[in-house]
Amino acid sequence: MTSVEGMPSSPRSRRPRALVATGGLSALLLTVLSACSQDDRPQSTMDPQGDYAQMIFDLSWPVFLIAAVVGVVVFAVIGVAVVRFRERPDDEFTPKQVHGNPAMEIGLTVLPAVLLAAIIIPTVSVLFDLNAEPEDPLVINVTGQQWWWEFDYPTITGDDDLPLVTANEMVIPAGQQVRLNITSRDVIHSFWIPRLNGKRDAVPGRVHTWNMQADQPGEFWGQCTEFCGLSHTNMRMRVIALTPADFDRWVELQKANAVSPDDEAVEAGRAQFSSLCASCHQVDGLVDADGEQIVAQPQTQVYSGAAPNLTHLMSRGTFVSSNFDLLNEECRDQREALAEDDPEAFSAAYLEGTTPECLNRVDLEAWLRDPPGVFPMYVDPTQLAATDGKYRGMPNLNLTEDQIDQLVTYLQTLNPALNTAGA
Ligand code: CUA
Repeated sequence: MTSVEGMPSSPRSRRPRALVATGGLSALLLTVLSACSQDDRPQSTMDPQGDYAQMIFDLSWPVFLIAAVVGVVVFAVIGVAVVRFRERPDDEFTPKQVHGNPAMEIGLTVLPAVLLAAIIIPTVSVLFDLNAEPEDPLVINVTGQQWWWEFDYPTITGDDDLPLVTANEMVIPAGQQVRLNITSRDVIHSFWIPRLNGKRDAVPGRVHTWNMQADQPGEFWGQCTEFCGLSHTNMRMRVIALTPADFDRWVELQKANAVSPDDEAVEAGRAQFSSLCASCHQVDGLVDADGEQIVAQPQTQVYSGAAPNLTHLMSRGTFVSSNFDLLNEECRDQREALAEDDPEAFSAAYLEGTTPECLNRVDLEAWLRDPPGVFPMYVDPTQLAATDGKYRGMPNLNLTEDQIDQLVTYLQTLNPALNTAGA
């Protein structure tokens, strides 16, 4: 469209262009929003499943609407100004000045102030609510490190009189307030379970408190949201909410030491584990030839000083920072269907752990065969000078296929539900 002799185009001729622009914007917005409404959204903050996530969600909509209205008005005004007041060949150089218009100046100061107040008052209120210490919460210490999460329960002690400890899957009772003390052993990480609350940084030398609550039993995904090195993108975690009764049962199961059956094949795997893995990975109940508990010393080999406790590895559904499934595809699908359709049945099923029939042997063997090959880590032996000769992550132990087979045979017995069922 061209204007005649520098005259602005008539409003009628501008309309189609505005329509196209509005239509295009709407289509873009719809596309973006539709991405938020898919069924499969394990890490969507738009799908709150607990009190804290709900508070954030309830705040985000009014803020989004205010911002959207302001955005539309501002872009519309800019659009009109650009078209109507564009430079024309016979224009005077200086546009009309609007100095000394108190009504407009006060109006343009007061209006944003009112809008900001409308946003900041509920925002600050929600911030206080999110951070308030709940009454009588379950306390869980969350420790991030390259590249996995450790959870310990300071108020719950196991058979060894130490706090109950687990890795990568944080188990909580549905409906109860949980108070987290979040820290890190090496670099800054960030703990985020989008469907249960916002994110909170895990900083070495500091403890950041945070709250969590899930309305229903279920499995809630999260991942580290602060760049923390090579496997930052693989640093995931899950929160598993169980019914209060199932949570109590889970605690009882976790308190016990590992018991593995006296079976020749298991014994061979246990011997491999004792000599190859137990220097870093603790298994409570694993004893040496003299019947003494083997105590892992990861601090001698791992830069951050800790490695996941594997006492009840098969009570979990994932391994290696929840990056791989312990459950095979069929059992994982069943578990997810239960979480969707029958949260209480999901809760009961979680207590069964990963049974030998459900074990995803393929990924577990691939991990044992070449850990840094499937999960990038700083374990290059030529570069250990920077970390006092210690690894960041698990090195390749160059295991033979026989050793891998024996280890898997042993590892799949580390399931307290199986052991008590058999006892
Ligand atoms: Cu830990 Cu990113």
